[in-house]
Amino acid sequence: MCGIVGYVGSNPVLDILLDGLEQLEYRGYDSSGIAVRNGDKINVYKAVGKLKNLREELSSHAYEIQKSTSGIGHIRWATHGAPTVVNAHPHVSNCGKLVVVHNGIIENYKELKSKLEAQGCTFKSQTDTETVAHLVALKYEEVKDLTKAVGLAVNEIEGAYALEIMHADEPDKIVITKRNAPLIIGVANDGFYAGSDIPAFIKHTNKAVYLSDNQIATLTSSSMKIQDKDGNEVTPKIEQLPWEPVALSKMGYKHFMLKEIHEQPDVVRNILFGKLHSADTPIELEEVKLTREHLKSLNRIQIIACGTSLHAGMIGKYLIEDFCQIPVDIEASSEYIYRKTVTDEHTLVIGVSQSGETADTLTAIKQAKARGSHILIITNRPDSAMAREADSLLSVNAGIEVSVAATKSYIAQLTSFYLLALFMAEIKETLDNVKLSTLKSEMLILPQKIEQILSNKDKIQTCARKYSGTRDFIYIARGINYPTALEGALKLKEISYINATGYPAGELKHGPIAMLDETMPVLSILMKGSVYDKLLSNSEEARARNARMIALTNSDSPKLDELFDCIIKVPDIDEILSPIISIIPLQLIAYYIAEFLGKDVDQPRNLAKSVTVE
Ligand code: G6P
Repeated sequence: MCGIVGYVGSNPVLDILLDGLEQLEYRGYDSSGIAVRNGDKINVYKAVGKLKNLREELSSHAYEIQKSTSGIGHIRWATHGAPTVVNAHPHVSNCGKLVVVHNGIIENYKELKSKLEAQGCTFKSQTDTETVAHLVALKYEEVKDLTKAVGLAVNEIEGAYALEIMHADEPDKIVITKRNAPLIIGVANDGFYAGSDIPAFIKHTNKAVYLSDNQIATLTSSSMKIQDKDGNEVTPKIEQLPWEPVALSKMGYKHFMLKEIHEQPDVVRNILFGKLHSADTPIELEEVKLTREHLKSLNRIQIIACGTSLHAGMIGKYLIEDFCQIPVDIEASSEYIYRKTVTDEHTLVIGVSQSGETADTLTAIKQAKARGSHILIITNRPDSAMAREADSLLSVNAGIEVSVAATKSYIAQLTSFYLLALFMAEIKETLDNVKLSTLKSEMLILPQKIEQILSNKDKIQTCARKYSGTRDFIYIARGINYPTALEGALKLKEISYINATGYPAGELKHGPIAMLDETMPVLSILMKGSVYDKLLSNSEEARARNARMIALTNSDSPKLDELFDCIIKVPDIDEILSPIISIIPLQLIAYYIAEFLGKDVDQPRNLAKSVTVE
């Protein structure tokens, strides 16, 4: 989950690399580096910390390379070896002529390292990537051709990788290859770009070639040659990219996270458009490729996801069981892949992933696919590795999400789950028509309700600031909002580093209540409906232990004023739809606390937006 970028063409490369890395900072940001051709040499510059440190480092060297027109760059999220200058990429071979940047993990790097050391190579870093630099350099000595050398080297490498490589003896050339990690070529009039994600080059071109696993591409300023693993030339398929550069601007907001929170009403509108026309017309989900008979006969569903997507999946389980009466299991992908699951051709497996790249979910999906299950993917990236595994693809179209803490992609996943569950219920005829129409008409006005909450954000900000000095935070809920409590707590943890935990409120008395005293904030997600009274009692139990009580509610009951210090009101809504609106104030609370504490909201420490390692 590092970011890599490359360029070979007719324009100066320095700004292209730095701008590209800036767009990839969401993939990791603990160190960065670039390698740039300078005459018959290749210069390497690196810095620890965020990209601005590399920019500073380069400010006194820019004159050396201002005319350079080819180079590669890397932004790192450390897996092997601490974030230091030595461990930062690009890595250089012992001869000093070959440079490499890598995203992924070389799984057999220990064996490779021993072999290479026995052949006389000396290692400077603790990274797995350095083995690639030495291995390709040795192969180059044999064949004196960079493409061939890369082809020979990758035969010996196990694991996941996207690699970009340059050699001082082969000017005007970058060789790139990948396996189980994304790598995309940008095709432009001024040359060729390469990146681990589209934002790396979208500013320069929206024409792209998605490299497939084991393909090797040789890029020069005027040519692109792609070969398969047997060396056969492949005709590149140039695709038009859907995203515009404007999506990457903060549009006047202080942080991308705040901008993305505000985009949520439109995100919901976009997803509903074309699928949910009115309260009385059936939901259209052409994307679901299961036949009606297959859908009707389904007797088991598994949802697999990580992080925020896992919380969306938990709500998905609740909806599908409630609307369709089909048993649903939900599991973190990293657990799913290491046990014997009862998954077969009669199981529908739903993978949920913002990025469509998360290694654990991708592996889980591949396992389920191999067992014959129909794979339905809910993702924000229709161009991702997971999307390519899908039998049915529900693309949530939330637009690029830059902030590491997911907000609009979560709302998009939730909305998709509501559509899917209602669609299946209509086919299975498990919901009565009155209930169906009521839910559908309420869904159509969800965007306005989210807008109402956003227009009251000042009150939420005032409430949030009161709690910004706390070290711990508890969120309680019951029923369909229990995952909302988990997601609210996750948002706060991710960006403010406050130890926040979500509990099913009924469990409070079985342990967590011991932690309550006058210092502990307890936020109760108190939505009217089947569990309201129970949750109110649980909130009273917490109040009796002097906890600092906050309510997030759609109730007007005057009783709440006695129980809660702070009340955040949300518009009235059917209980089962309430997770779509109850999460919005929780995203804002997390945002305002982190912002007030001066944290790096969009790029919290130790996290990365796209986790391509297991
Ligand atoms: C990372 C991100 C989380 C995200 C999780 C799953 O940990 O920091 O925000 O929820 O990955 O990512 P996915 O792309 O599969 O939804």
